[in-house]
Amino acid sequence: MNEQIVILDFGSQYTQVIARRVRECHVYSTIVRYDTPAATIAAMNPKGLILSGGPSSVYAKDAPLPDKAIFKLGVPILGICYGVQLLAQFLGGKVEKGQKREYGRGTLTVLDPNCALFENLPESQQVWNSHGDKLTRQPKDFVVVATTENSDFAVIENRERKFFGLQFHPEVVHTPHGKELLANFVHGVCGCGKTWTMRSYLDQAVEDIRAQVGKERVILGLSGGVDSSVAAALLHKAVGDQLTCIFVNNGLLRAREAEVVQEVFGRNFKLKLQYEDASALFLKKLKGISEPEKKRKVIGKTFIDVFQAATKRAGKAKFLAQGTLYPDVIESVPIAGNPAALIKSHHNVGGLPKNMKFQLVEPLRCLFKDEVRVLGLELGLPREIVYRQPFPGPGLAVRVLGAITPDKLRITREADAIVVEEMKASGWYYKIWQSFAVLLPCKSVGVMGDERTYDFTIAIRAVESQDGMTADWVKLPYELLEKLASRIINEVKGVNRCVLDITSKPPGTIEWE
Ligand code: XMP
Repeated sequence: MNEQIVILDFGSQYTQVIARRVRECHVYSTIVRYDTPAATIAAMNPKGLILSGGPSSVYAKDAPLPDKAIFKLGVPILGICYGVQLLAQFLGGKVEKGQKREYGRGTLTVLDPNCALFENLPESQQVWNSHGDKLTRQPKDFVVVATTENSDFAVIENRERKFFGLQFHPEVVHTPHGKELLANFVHGVCGCGKTWTMRSYLDQAVEDIRAQVGKERVILGLSGGVDSSVAAALLHKAVGDQLTCIFVNNGLLRAREAEVVQEVFGRNFKLKLQYEDASALFLKKLKGISEPEKKRKVIGKTFIDVFQAATKRAGKAKFLAQGTLYPDVIESVPIAGNPAALIKSHHNVGGLPKNMKFQLVEPLRCLFKDEVRVLGLELGLPREIVYRQPFPGPGLAVRVLGAITPDKLRITREADAIVVEEMKASGWYYKIWQSFAVLLPCKSVGVMGDERTYDFTIAIRAVESQDGMTADWVKLPYELLEKLASRIINEVKGVNRCVLDITSKPPGTIEWE
């Protein structure tokens, strides 16, 4: 069992970032709800606790409060922002409404360089604040070890109990030394070693999968996306031929997608791959349907039917493997004003019908996406798969607006291939969240050579995003845009115009649908 840091989530939008920062120090971290009983936390045997920030005020009627027994567990505690106010609230300090909300950069001045958090850090450093309430008296037996221009209690410490409070956010990139400060907490204060590596995770995961699965058979729906691909490679390493991967070609895939999956998994990994070409069926079911929600429903239902029939053909299996990730597992904190609470996306949920009687194997359920990628490389998956941009389950159906026809799919597929090729060649593909082509459902007039044309328009969409929930359009260089437009119009028959989507999300979505 790994040493771990337990993070109590009070609804901050940065809780997962804290968890990732801790893991970047090669220390395992787990997020639990703020009101998790102290006994449950004790049973997890944490080396330290972190109390996250949160949008509430500790004095609010419905403020999220922890089990007060956590302060008696005898493990180090680091309170961040709202977390430090909790320390004050529970241990005899004082919090008041700030005159004005302190938001943005501040300069931290260290008063006591012997505080373990500041080991090897400068005595003056930039930090990032975001809080309304502020501490006006430190809790009993605490001393102030650093201040900022706006806070006389920016960092407080009880050295004996190893309790610390930070008014600012060390987890965000705008606090340049924040990561080192967290490292000082987890290594220096809590005494954690660097035990969390993907190599050690891999060995442990293989053992766990074998223990769970025994001699039974496992089925996995392989989409070719990062998560299912890594899950497939991992399971294959653990249980070899007991695993059957089902890959459904829904006719809405990108160029060469089915070939790449068959090549990588069938030929290279030599895993049992059941290829189901259901493209004709999907296109038949989608014929004439132009309404986005209806399209999604038809695709979802057809997928389930096809997958269910495929599992029957695959033979009896006890387990179904899924590439569920940690962010899908963390229980969100239902606090008013907590954006994280809204972040359960409408995608990737639903899944398979209840009457499919499988037990689940979810070997990625404690990993963040970046960790899954490292694991993928560790397992020998090619970069092309490990670093591919997200691709929606309904595939090109959400990128061909209106009713889907084979010709529109061909156009979108060819345009998309050019976008991917040029984005990769210019180095942009791996820097951003997504870049793709969308086919607009109307024609316009153009001129090519001596002839007038009447053809479709392709919109280019390129966005930056952390998690797909919000996004910004990417300012690609003009030269690249020009090349994209000229290649798409010249090489893709049926397109005579190219436009660039400059909408952020919100108010736009990433896919046009
Ligand atoms: P939107 O278009 O809602 O997309 O801004 C947010 C992110 O989710 C992806 N997406 C999907 N992924 N099944 C998926 O697995 C879906 O039905 C689906 N729809 C959208 C989209 O590509 C973007 O990254």
